[in-house]
Amino acid sequence: MMSTPSRKNSISRSVRKPKQGPAKTAKSDTRLLDAEQFLLPTYKRQPVVMTHGRGAYVFDSTGKKYLDFLGGIAVNALGHAHPRVVKVIRREAARAIHLSNLFHNAYQGPLARKLAGWSGLDRVFFANSGTEAIDGALKLARLFGRQPDEAPGTTAKKHRFLALENSFHGRTFGAITVTSTEKYRLPFAPLVPGAEFVRFNDVADLEAKFDDTVCGILLEPIQGEGGIYPLSEVFWNRARSLATQHSALLIADEIQCGLGRTGRFFGYQKFSSKPDIALIAKPLAAGLPLGAILTTEEVASRISPGMHGTTFGGGPLACAVALEFLKIVEDEKLLENIRMRGAELRDGLMKLAAKFSFIREIRGEGLMIGVELSIDGAPFVSEAMRRGLLINCTHDFTLRFLPPFIITRAQVREFLRLFEIVLATTPRQIPASDSAKSGDPQRVAHATAR
Ligand SMILES: Cc1ncc(COP(=O)(O)O)c(C=O)c1O
Repeated sequence: MMSTPSRKNSISRSVRKPKQGPAKTAKSDTRLLDAEQFLLPTYKRQPVVMTHGRGAYVFDSTGKKYLDFLGGIAVNALGHAHPRVVKVIRREAARAIHLSNLFHNAYQGPLARKLAGWSGLDRVFFANSGTEAIDGALKLARLFGRQPDEAPGTTAKKHRFLALENSFHGRTFGAITVTSTEKYRLPFAPLVPGAEFVRFNDVADLEAKFDDTVCGILLEPIQGEGGIYPLSEVFWNRARSLATQHSALLIADEIQCGLGRTGRFFGYQKFSSKPDIALIAKPLAAGLPLGAILTTEEVASRISPGMHGTTFGGGPLACAVALEFLKIVEDEKLLENIRMRGAELRDGLMKLAAKFSFIREIRGEGLMIGVELSIDGAPFVSEAMRRGLLINCTHDFTLRFLPPFIITRAQVREFLRLFEIVLATTPRQIPASDSAKSGDPQRVAHATAR
């Protein structure tokens, strides 16, 4: 059963009637001018101020409504202002927003237990973001690889990381070391030493690069920022067996594809074997910052107090909300909804692919779908926005859809109707040359990938 926000809720009330003056144009809006003057220019932002959301819709400061098929880039899995999330935030904010990891709080333990149940892993460390979880996992892999006779401070024999071409793992130093996109990494060299990239889904390349010096291999079960590319079962299984053979850790980056998005709790659960570490963040606390490292008892046994930590990670407010998020996914049978709505979405997109010849491929699982175009995708994002639809474009040619898990059948239909208009009316630009796509992973036929 999908929930709709409660009318009794006072936060919801204030959200329904936002106080705003007359509509401001982008040029005269002082909030945009301040942002332009005072923020680091790290994003190409759309010139709108988003003010609030309700379920699967977001509203800007002019009152314009958007159907949200981006979900805060896979964060807002319950949409906006879910009444149970709002209730927990209000309750916990009035109790304790932050305590300290020097003490226990009421939610970390129960949340860790629940995540262990979902993942089949044993122990959890709470961080604040995806990239921080990645860096923690790299540290665990180095620790696991270090032999008792290797003195601290020396380079352990087993210190290399393998990651995949076309990967994205975050923005901290460790994470950019294992992120393949050159513009994200090269300006910051020298990076953490020891990382090497394997061609996507290329088992021969994996075998050639895996040896006893590898301490960990990072895999996204479905590459997200890279353009929605699902990892093959053959590749995963080979990575699993090589990691076991060489006593290295298989690390699943589930930050975008995990916690339900594919219709399973974790993306790796479509494979027959488990990773040693799974990393989660984005939807975990329904929009509050929270990430986590999930791992085995064996890996956890290598770490002791003082070796890793965080001030904010695992605070009571975020953990209480995360626990509620996981319960809502179960109570509202959202995995089932994800699978059904995902199938409807793909069926509709396949029909559109038959109509619009510039759609090259449809990839993904559940509610993580990429539509690769043979032409530049950015103009379609702008046109969609103009028509009240939020989507984004990744790797220039792939339109990416990450709608909330609560999306309804009617909203999928609304999306398909809007998206067809967007496809029909957007001026076509720059055909994608093969050379422009040379950085993409090996192309696989995923036209009907489920
Ligand atoms: C697969 C994957 N890993 C890691 C990250 C980094 O997460 P965060 O932005 O929370 O640091 C992202 C973010 O997009 C991601 O998609």
